[in-house]
Amino acid sequence: MACAKLYFLLLLNFVGLFVNVYANNLSPNFYSKTCPQALSIVKKGLDEAIKNEARVGASLLRVHFHDCFVDGCDGSILLDNSATIQSEKQAAPNNNSARGFEVVDSIKAKLEKACPGIVSCADILAIIARDAVVHYGGPTWEVRLGRRDSLIANRAGANKTIPAPSFNLTNLTSNFAAQHLSFKDMVVLSGAHTVGFARCTNFRSHIYNDTNIDTNFAKSLQQKCPKTGGNNNLLQPLDLQTRFIFDNKYYQNLLVHKGLLHSDQQLFNGNKADNLVQKYASDQCKFFEDFAKSIVKMGNISPLTGTNGEIRLNCRKPN
Ligand code: HEM
Ligand SMILES: *[C@@H]1O[C@H](CO)[C@@H](O)[C@H](O)[C@H]1NC(C)=O
Ligand SMILES: *[C@@H]1O[C@H](CO)[C@@H](O)[C@H](O)[C@H]1NC(C)=O
Ligand SMILES: *[C@@H]1O[C@H](CO)[C@@H](O)[C@H](O)[C@H]1NC(C)=O
Ligand SMILES: *[C@@H]1O[C@H](CO)[C@@H](O)[C@H](O)[C@H]1NC(C)=O
Ligand SMILES: *[C@@H]1O[C@H](CO)[C@@H](O)[C@H](O)[C@H]1NC(C)=O
Repeated sequence: MACAKLYFLLLLNFVGLFVNVYANNLSPNFYSKTCPQALSIVKKGLDEAIKNEARVGASLLRVHFHDCFVDGCDGSILLDNSATIQSEKQAAPNNNSARGFEVVDSIKAKLEKACPGIVSCADILAIIARDAVVHYGGPTWEVRLGRRDSLIANRAGANKTIPAPSFNLTNLTSNFAAQHLSFKDMVVLSGAHTVGFARCTNFRSHIYNDTNIDTNFAKSLQQKCPKTGGNNNLLQPLDLQTRFIFDNKYYQNLLVHKGLLHSDQQLFNGNKADNLVQKYASDQCKFFEDFAKSIVKMGNISPLTGTNGEIRLNCRKPN
């Protein structure tokens, strides 16, 4: 079923192509002269990768989020350890968790062949995030482009600013507010948990110790995630109904107390997020429309532009 308002939004974005109304100097047509094939190369590379492993689009959607929350969307999460760099990949929220980096490498290699030194790693992540959501059946949006890549990583920053699954609603709200994202942005962006998986270590205390969880759901998860052991290898879908479809079932699960993470179920816990969760659970078009708006906002967090940063040739290391 089509969502009428989405097409209207796309039309507005199309008009925006001719009028410079974009914040931060980012714009959808940034590469239209310098690398007109950029968008199709990324899409093709991602589609192939998802065909090979259905989960990797979800993993990379999360990588874009974790990139943006640490000193802005600047590709810092893609840098490997080196003599001078303590990678964000090994920060607590990412270690044994953030994944899909080989897919970025392979797309970057194709872009370097087609248009050397033009397309940033930060922009590749932003385009992948959109294409992944579309691939799984979710909304589309115009990706604003022109971010440049950082010269450094910030492991301590990644430890500190990426939200944890132990957070309650107050913690989640202030964590997003620190990135100038609203309460509504937080609730709707959490809907990304309609795809992908989490490790036992991240939902153990929710299934053993929380009360705001369906009893049978908790029991069945306890069979899969023991009190000790299996931290990293016992994955469960974040959306128990449709793990590879971007839909509003994540919110429907919350209404019956079947959110996988403590932080997920905080959004339907007898508090001020309940109304919005109910709305998204009953109106997928509204979810899609709001998600598209909020992820564009997330993609605008503190980009490097102009002569700041660089266009990395290899996403894993500064030039
Ligand atoms: C609201 C606060 C959030 C918290 C506390 C949170 C936490 C988590 C945790 C703990 C996992 C499982 C990681 C693992 O076990 O290895 C996860 C997975 C995931 N998150 Fe979030 N997240 C949040 C918001 C977001 C946002 C804003 C997005 C994207 C827009 C996102 C996208 C994803 C995706 C797609 C996965 C699955 C990744 C995969 O299967 O590889 N999350 N998140
Ligand atoms: C990341 O995880 C690996 C494997 O579990 C571990 O050996 C390593 O110490 C961790 N890195 C950091 C920086 O904590
Ligand atoms: C990041 O967090 C991990 C795990 O809590 C800790 O071992 C490490 O020292 C922290 N690193 C930095 C640079 O803050
Ligand atoms: C969140 O947790 C903090 C303590 O960690 C507590 O002060 C606060 O009241 C909690 N908020 C909600 C909405 O549960
Ligand atoms: C949650 O927020 C409270 C303040 O409301 C703070 O004391 C607490 O440490 C936070 N919890 C986490 C897990 O960050
Ligand atoms: C549950 O809470 C108890 C008491 O706070 C704690 O000792 C135990 O480790 C928790 N269990 C899990 C699986 O988090």
